[in-house]
Amino acid sequence: MTYEALKAEEQKYVMNTYGRFPIALDHGEGARLWDVAGKEYIDLSSGIGVNCLGYNNPVVTGAIEAQIHKLMHVSNLFTTAPMVQTAKTLVEATGMGKVFFANSGAEANEGAIKLARKYSYDKYGAGRSKIVTLWNSFHGRTVTTLKATGQTRFHDYFFPFTEGFDYAAAGDLDDLKSKVDDTTCAVMMELIQGEGGVLPQDPDFVKAVEQLCRERDLLLIIDEVQTGIGRTGALFCFQNYDIQPDVVTMAKGLGGGVPIGAVMAAKTCCDVLTPGTHATTFGGTPTVCAAANAVLSVVNDPKFLAEVREKGEYLKNGILSLGSPAIHGVRGMGLMLGIIVDEGQHSVFANRLIEQGVLVITAGKNAVRLLPPLTITYEEMDAALAIMKNVFCNEK
Ligand SMILES: Cc1ncc(COP(=O)(O)O)c(C=O)c1O
Repeated sequence: MTYEALKAEEQKYVMNTYGRFPIALDHGEGARLWDVAGKEYIDLSSGIGVNCLGYNNPVVTGAIEAQIHKLMHVSNLFTTAPMVQTAKTLVEATGMGKVFFANSGAEANEGAIKLARKYSYDKYGAGRSKIVTLWNSFHGRTVTTLKATGQTRFHDYFFPFTEGFDYAAAGDLDDLKSKVDDTTCAVMMELIQGEGGVLPQDPDFVKAVEQLCRERDLLLIIDEVQTGIGRTGALFCFQNYDIQPDVVTMAKGLGGGVPIGAVMAAKTCCDVLTPGTHATTFGGTPTVCAAANAVLSVVNDPKFLAEVREKGEYLKNGILSLGSPAIHGVRGMGLMLGIIVDEGQHSVFANRLIEQGVLVITAGKNAVRLLPPLTITYEEMDAALAIMKNVFCNEK
């Protein structure tokens, strides 16, 4: 089917909730994708950070294939080895306590919010349920995680939203302290605001927030949905910041392409959620955990993580050395990068890059966001840089 034919049927049958690029993708290999007309692209977006080991990676596809023939799904009323293995790997790699499996980033954050509120309720009784998040954050699209998101444009239409959120300016400890009171149970934040514009938090601010949380017995929830699973050159970005969160949420890269999310809690709060207080039918099903185990077998390796950091530096330096006056800098860590351009121009550049065969996404007001597969090769990065040169240095 051609793009035009598919698009016509999409418009007829699929709800119009996405501003999609005018491309219908067909298949992929490594960091390359092909559309239905056979046009080739280098993918610097990996399904918004999901396909962390690239396309058709036999480590992931082989693990899924083996598992689906053995046992595709069972309910959480039974124990399975893949699920236990994923949790064990995550806990041993981070010093955290235990894991709850969900299906997406928003659901993982819902779990974290429930955990924080119950932790506080169990210890202090009712009335301590407020969660402070940061302006410009993004935490998901459910009615609760929209309200957790510190961007007012997400607080429309779907009233009434879940109560109990307040927002502080990133990097402003005094503002954050002023939002914390006797009704607060947690602080929740991304260490690099992804959707907000690829904005890394200041390390001193993050350390001070950790300290404040300890003093006030607030749970420090770190949303690693976008930054987790090797994306920033550490298994989790909190390891770059030398902090020990109480709760870490993840999704995207964890399954390498299949839907899985998880909430990981520290030993001090990992027994808060008990039978009957939280559940989901598909959470931690053997197929997605087999995929996650395959992903973690590759990513949870200091050598692989060092390569992510090296590739990130190479890509960043390659972009800066284009010397384009349109590029005002490159932000981010590892292979989570934002090319900073004039406000509003990010979509213009993204569209031109895509037209010329490099898939990127945008973030915030001025960032062309790059989240390539962590397995991208130097040859693939060079090919992408050659197209970037065309786009950023030959402005129409
Ligand atoms: C930091 C962060 N949290 C939560 C989410 C929501 O994840 P999902 O779309 O899987 O629900 C996202 C998605 O982009 C995200 O970047």
